[in-house]
Amino acid sequence: MAITDETLTAAQEIIARYPEGRSRSALLPMLHLVQAEEGYVTPRGIAFCADVLGLTKAEVGAVATFYTMYKRRPTGEYLVSVCTNLACQILGGEDVYARLSKELGVGHDETTPDSVITLEHAECLAACDYAPVVTVNYEFYDNQTPASASGLVGALQAGERPMPTRGAPLCSFREISRQLAGFHDPRRAAAHTGPAHPDAPRPVDSRGEQSLTGTDVGPASEAADYAVPGGATERVLTDAAAASTYDADGIADAGTAAVTTAENPVRPSHAIPEES
Ligand code: FES
Repeated sequence: MAITDETLTAAQEIIARYPEGRSRSALLPMLHLVQAEEGYVTPRGIAFCADVLGLTKAEVGAVATFYTMYKRRPTGEYLVSVCTNLACQILGGEDVYARLSKELGVGHDETTPDSVITLEHAECLAACDYAPVVTVNYEFYDNQTPASASGLVGALQAGERPMPTRGAPLCSFREISRQLAGFHDPRRAAAHTGPAHPDAPRPVDSRGEQSLTGTDVGPASEAADYAVPGGATERVLTDAAAASTYDADGIADAGTAAVTTAENPVRPSHAIPEES
């Protein structure tokens, strides 16, 4: 398969994000882009990156082989990553992996004959609170058991796309690779679930039960202030905004996310408890 005109245009768009003369800094998203084109980073993809970025193939290959997110063999439609790092292992991650490996008939970094599933061991997926964790194309499925993971993979093999525990709806490995190259997920349903959408609902916890306040997600009416579509970015509150948010004077940072419940009212993260 040749690199398409669409990919060439996308590559130019990626390079344009970087200052002139610094195009080599575009290599990481470029590798995701060629992975989106061919399902993995092929020798042709490496040559393409080297050509458009003015690098040697050895330089590109050195980067592509360093990061585990760049696959050097054809990858299935769904990359199923089972965390077997400490927290997940203690809570059964190895059992989840063993069950999937046995049922799928593949081991680490191997793909089922129908090209639907690639299975891999993963190091900590940064969701230890929800261990054991499985991701599919980097979307989270929390608190898994061998049985629930088996059901998840079975659904994928049956052509279904179970909703992740949080985040956007599942897409294919090639589609997520394109998003990782820095291009928007074009699906309307995906946009509506993300905080970057101008009409996104207030963020809630992973179970959808508790409102989160004090995060860096701004309401749509303030989006223009953040200079990014949808208005979700880091922001520094003015003293007045901080005072109105946290009911305290002269505070110029947004603090950290806090969970609001009747038992746990909003409290600035930097508040010093009064001595009793
Ligand atoms: S150890 Fe599994 S998510 Fe951290």
